[in-house]
Formats: sequence, structure tokens, C-alpha cells
Amino acid sequence: MTVNPTALITGASRGLGRALAAGLAREGFDLIIDARDAAALDAAAGALRAAGGAPTDPGAHRPSGAVTALAGDVTDPAHRAALLAAAQAAGRLDLLVNNAGTLGASPLPALADYPPDELRAAFEVNVIAPIALTQLLLPVLRASGGAVLNITSDAAVEAYAGWGGYGAAKAALEQASNVLAAEEPVLRVWWADPGDLRTDMHQLAFPGEDISDRPEPAAVVPAFVRLVTERLPSGRYRASHLMPVAP
Ligand SMILES: NC(=O)c1ccc[n+]([C@@H]2O[C@H](COP(=O)([O-])OP(=O)(O)OC[C@H]3O[C@@H](n4cnc5c(N)ncnc54)[C@H](OP(=O)(O)O)[C@@H]3O)[C@@H](O)[C@H]2O)c1
Repeated sequence: MTVNPTALITGASRGLGRALAAGLAREGFDLIIDARDAAALDAAAGALRAAGGAPTDPGAHRPSGAVTALAGDVTDPAHRAALLAAAQAAGRLDLLVNNAGTLGASPLPALADYPPDELRAAFEVNVIAPIALTQLLLPVLRASGGAVLNITSDAAVEAYAGWGGYGAAKAALEQASNVLAAEEPVLRVWWADPGDLRTDMHQLAFPGEDISDRPEPAAVVPAFVRLVTERLPSGRYRASHLMPVAP
């Protein structure tokens, strides 16, 4: 019996996580997904299952398989343990996508005014939780020769006024990814900037502004699919540099 590869994607009820889940399902991955809002997560899981089934071209890709949806907060150790149990039940884990994230305080404050409790909370979601989840999943990832994809941002490397809290947290995640790549040569470890996307988080960063000129998250999925399917070397990537070139 052929076992589909399995991907665990955090924050897959909407936005980039949901688009990545759909793209990986099309590539034949079984999915484990989470988000805090159970109703939104169940709706996303239902849509992913409905989109599954036999591919129109039998030679193209395998049909998507199981979708396991677990509602919870990535900062909650009990929820992370439930995600591990789901990966163990799947029997393998080929890809962990640490996508769930928070903008932090909004409107974006200058560092001079950043409430320390909100800064700490942003680091919990954007840095501590993905590292802790990765720690938990490393044995099953190693056993599958898997990969870790950490979703970061250009704010990790550029000095945008107001983006100091979010950007510092994403910079910390980038360096943790860099060290993990050195420590785990059997795995692939990628940290990637998806670029500006038309999502709830992006709207929160630009309250009241028209963000309809930003691309939909689905637009960058081919870049991430390329990263995964070509198993590119560990390192930092920008989705815009990874887009497949039309033949
Ligand atoms: N949009 C952009 O322009 C942009 C640019 C650069 C980088 N990024 C990064 O891309 C990733 C996805 O962002 P997005 O724009 O798609 O955001 P989004 O539309 O707000 O979606 C975020 C997803 O994560 C979930 N989530 C948030 N906090 C969570 C938590 N503590 N535990 C579990 N799930 C949680 C949300 O569901 P619940 O709220 O129900 O939990 C939702 O499914 C983030 O890491 C973000 O920093 C985005």
C-alpha cells in the first residue's frame, strides 16, 4: 500500500496557510491542519476534502488524502502534543509548515511605545511556539527524512517603522531556522518570505486601507510547491524568486 506524504500546516483556516494546504493536497499530501477558531477550521477542512478525490489526469498527481483538523492555539503545549499524536497516527511526517503567526499590536506602534506584554505575546506565537512544535516533531520528521518550512517576512530583514515587534520576532525565527538547518543535516529547513499578500493579517497592518492590489495567497503557492517537490537546499528563500518559470 502506498502511503501519501503527510504535511502539518499551522494556521490553515484562512490566508496563506489555507492556500498552502490546498496546494499540497493537490500534490498528494495528507494534511494535518490547525487554527484556534474551530468553526473556521472545520469549514476549511471540509473545502479541502471536497476538493480532493481523483485527479482528472490520472498520470498527474495522486488524489489528496486525509485531512485531520485540530482546533487549538500553537502556544498551548497540550495542543502541540495533540498535533504530535496526529502525526504519529499518520505514521509519518514529511513536512512541517510553521505558518500561524500574529502581527502583534495593531495599529503598529513604534518600538518606543510597544507594550512589553504585547511584544512578549507576539514572540510566543511567532518564535517560541514554532520552535517548541518543531522540537516535539523532530523525531518523526527525522524518521521520514522530512522538512521544516518556517514562514517569515521581509520585516525580518528590513527596518520598516512600526514593524519592530513583528520584525524582531520573525528575525528570531529566521536565525533559529538557520541554526536548525546546521544542526539537522538530514532534514531540509527552509525559512521563507512569502511577500505581501491580501489576507486578514495584512489588512490589520494597514487598517482602513485598500489592499486589493496585493496578490491572493494562492498566487505564491507554486513557489512553495517548488521548494517542497524539488527539495531545494536548506536556506532562506523569497517566494518571488522561487516562482516556476513558464516553459
Ligand atoms: N499577509 C502577508 O502580507 C504576509 C507577509 C509576510 C509574511 N506573512 C506571514 O504569513 C503567515 C500567514 O499569514 P496570513 O497573512 O495568511 O495571516 P491570516 O490570514 O491572519 O491567517 C493566520 C492563520 O493562522 C491562524 N492562527 C493565528 N494565530 C494562531 C495561533 N496562536 N494558533 C493557531 N493558529 C493561529 C489563524 O486562525 P485563528 O485566528 O482562528 O487561530 C489563521 O488560520 C504568517 O506567519 C505571517 O506572518 C504574511
